[in-house]
Amino acid sequence: MRQKLVAGNWKMNGSKASIKALLDGIKQGIGDVQSAEVAVCPPFVYLGEVESQLQGTPIVWGAQNLSTEEKGAFTGEIAASMINDFGCKYVIVGHSERRSLYGEDDALVAKKYRVARAAGLRPILCIGETLEEREKEVTNEVVARQIAAVIDLEGVAALADGVIAYEPVWAIGTGKTASPEQAQEVHKFIREQIAASDAEVARKVQILYGGSMNAGNAVELLAQEDIDGGLIGGASLKAEDFLTICRAAG
Ligand code: PGA
Repeated sequence: MRQKLVAGNWKMNGSKASIKALLDGIKQGIGDVQSAEVAVCPPFVYLGEVESQLQGTPIVWGAQNLSTEEKGAFTGEIAASMINDFGCKYVIVGHSERRSLYGEDDALVAKKYRVARAAGLRPILCIGETLEEREKEVTNEVVARQIAAVIDLEGVAALADGVIAYEPVWAIGTGKTASPEQAQEVHKFIREQIAASDAEVARKVQILYGGSMNAGNAVELLAQEDIDGGLIGGASLKAEDFLTICRAAG
């Protein structure tokens, strides 16, 4: 049985005060979460705050992005070693906002996956099709290509050191969720795609769903055989909603 993971992607939201209140709320309710792992991914500048507030709790944390460079003259970038320094377990790579707004392509995302893994972080690899791609019925080709970029660079075994998040771009932040059936179909395809190279890795790898997952639709989505948790944007900013999703995960 794969353990479920619910990860909050806070994106560029929050302040010292709001983050303290959010973490207090999550900490208060975390005892009701039975078996799922719970993670939060704050903006970089709050990682220290999050580390000190979450140490000694079952909640883990991660970053939203990282540099492919180790250190040096890269103004504004954040290295894997720095993310490690703040006790992160996870780092999101290839989020669709990074891909579409900051020009990150499959090759760069694969490199970020490599750098994260080499640093001992667990990359959360985001993949997913745009609305246009879904309408053209090329969803499978798109997610297969996005995964292949990592497999080609690192080998299929590398996928066991990370997590995949299937996030249809048309469902992110739009309030439009993929139906449980639509999501399951793609999750199953992703797992089969990996199984074609390594059945054992495919069986083990956690595949999260992301894209307007909320307190109202989490139960149904998480009940699908190949959905192993969620990457939550908007709904992760409210402690009660986030906890409802975490409890739905088990
Ligand atoms: P959303 O974001 O839950 O607000 O749709 C999910 C994500 O982008 O990871």
